[in-house]
Amino acid sequence: MIVLGIESSCDDTAAAVVVDGREIRSNVASSQAELHARYGGIVPELASRSHIQQIVPVVRAALSAADLALPEIDAIAVTSGPGLAGSLIVGLNMAKGLAIASGKTLIGVNHLQGHAYAGWLYDSSSGDPTPGAPEELHGFPLLCLVVSGGHTDLALLKAHGEFERVGRTRDDAAGEAFDKAARLMGLGYPGGPVIQKIAERGGPSDPLPRAWIPGTWDFSFSGLKTAVLHRARAEGIYPAPEEGPDSEAVAALARSFQEAVADVIATKTARAAEEFGVQGIVIGGGVAANSALREALSDRASVPVMSPPPALCTDNGAMIAAAAFHYLERGDRSGVDLDVTPGLTIEEAPSTPTAASI
Ligand code: KG4
Ligand code: ZN
Repeated sequence: MIVLGIESSCDDTAAAVVVDGREIRSNVASSQAELHARYGGIVPELASRSHIQQIVPVVRAALSAADLALPEIDAIAVTSGPGLAGSLIVGLNMAKGLAIASGKTLIGVNHLQGHAYAGWLYDSSSGDPTPGAPEELHGFPLLCLVVSGGHTDLALLKAHGEFERVGRTRDDAAGEAFDKAARLMGLGYPGGPVIQKIAERGGPSDPLPRAWIPGTWDFSFSGLKTAVLHRARAEGIYPAPEEGPDSEAVAALARSFQEAVADVIATKTARAAEEFGVQGIVIGGGVAANSALREALSDRASVPVMSPPPALCTDNGAMIAAAAFHYLERGDRSGVDLDVTPGLTIEEAPSTPTAASI
């Protein structure tokens, strides 16, 4: 089954062609990071305007890189939530238009479930032998850790498409914490990649507090953000002095921050895997690209950890097409009345299948 996946929930306009939920034929993305960098975060109006400009060329590029025309595609998948309403609408209307014009099946996808399904993807042009799918290698249930700019969720995947959330952040998402900490250190947006780079410079780290929230699988990062603010003030990093902050002090703070986030997430995820008796852990979302987190998790976990390559951790169209394959396999379809659901959680179906299926 050949699926075109479209993603526009946040600040990446992306489209991809994926075969049978696993084999990437093309994966194209246009990032808006530069557009939002000067504001230190995403400006929703600018995001939707940029999606409008990028969506047609990005979808065209994905089809042409896969060497396919629309009639050769079996279904059109699109993120319908969660995300920014104005951004989601652009991808959704593109997908609806294509589905109506071509008579192809339309399917709405839960973005967070998409992040989990990035663990199933492989690139057919890489020359590597086809890897086994997580459920073929290890069986169900699997534990999914989705750590992105807007969400931090731990969910059990009991069977394809059947997610049960067991933990979540009570305040900031892990990616949001990276972005806010980076802003305090004057490092720009998005914060994750730049903090990782600076933290790699080495130097001693001075432990920051960790919120363990015992007895739950929930997370909290707002206290850590406050601790970063206090440390940044004490070290003369924030507000930034005219000559700029001491780069060694910034590197040490970046490292201490990253260690605190990686430690809590990896430790709680590994413990949850034991508690729920899962066969493996699948990670996804922008923060899952973080090398310190990946290392900490593989050190602590007693079951196999499947980590998509960093490029597939951040938002992309391939993960949307991958999740859609499993929805379609069980007979789900979306109708022309498919709408955006900005507040969708990882457990929820992206849309109620209706009789008005295309
Ligand atoms: O999944 P994603 O691309 O978009 C959302 O659905 O939110 O995640 C974006 C988030 C940003 O907060 C960014 O700072 C973070 O992922 N991120 C990272 C890394 N790469 C991206 N955080 C830590 N380390 C990284 N290497
Ligand atoms: Zn995402």
